[in-house]
Amino acid sequence: MKKETCGPVQRFHGMITLADRMRILRQKPVTIWLTGLSGAGKSTIAFELERQLVSQGQACYVLDGDNVRHGLGRDLGFNQQDRHENIRRVAHVAQLMNDAGLIVITALISPMQADRAMAREIIGAGNFVETYLSASVATCARRDPKGLYAKALAGEIASFTGISAPYEAPLNPELVIDTAALTPDESVAGVLAYLRENCLALPA
Ligand code: ADX
Repeated sequence: MKKETCGPVQRFHGMITLADRMRILRQKPVTIWLTGLSGAGKSTIAFELERQLVSQGQACYVLDGDNVRHGLGRDLGFNQQDRHENIRRVAHVAQLMNDAGLIVITALISPMQADRAMAREIIGAGNFVETYLSASVATCARRDPKGLYAKALAGEIASFTGISAPYEAPLNPELVIDTAALTPDESVAGVLAYLRENCLALPA
């Protein structure tokens, strides 16, 4: 067994490699990192994408912002520092799941460019598919599926992304899906087409 030391903490390497796990699961693990405003369609697309990937025999798991904040991030709020920590934790979980061979779909607003760059670094640039769901504040506020924009505009929720907290659109994402113009099914088809072309095939 290989051992690596980092200060007082040691890291052990098991005997099973990622190549072993890829062979068993017959897939290349990646993280599809969905980013966009609340109401842009991240959860809808994440869970439908998961359903379609699983129905095609791919082992896949969604890390959804609202869900993760009930456990892993239950001590975190929505100031910049807490969002940074939320994204850091989810990125590490995604990296571990990728290491276990799973395809991961994250659905987090992840509003800051620097935090998404950190996630890319943690997960590994070669496994990271930054996917921008590009619906505007006006579109998302019109949809307002959870009634949160109305509350934010009435001053009942502080630091609400797009209203009283910033959203920095990705500068160079792998993929942009315009969820204002496309149906959820069309959006999922767009992500799947990208994955088939760039990610899912096992290396020879
Ligand atoms: S992130 O900024 O840290 O990436 P995350 O995706 O986990 O955010 O959580 C966003 C979800 O929390 C939204 O979909 C919404 O339901 C809820 N929420 C509650 N308060 C806020 C807020 N101030 N800003 C944005 N989303 C909020």
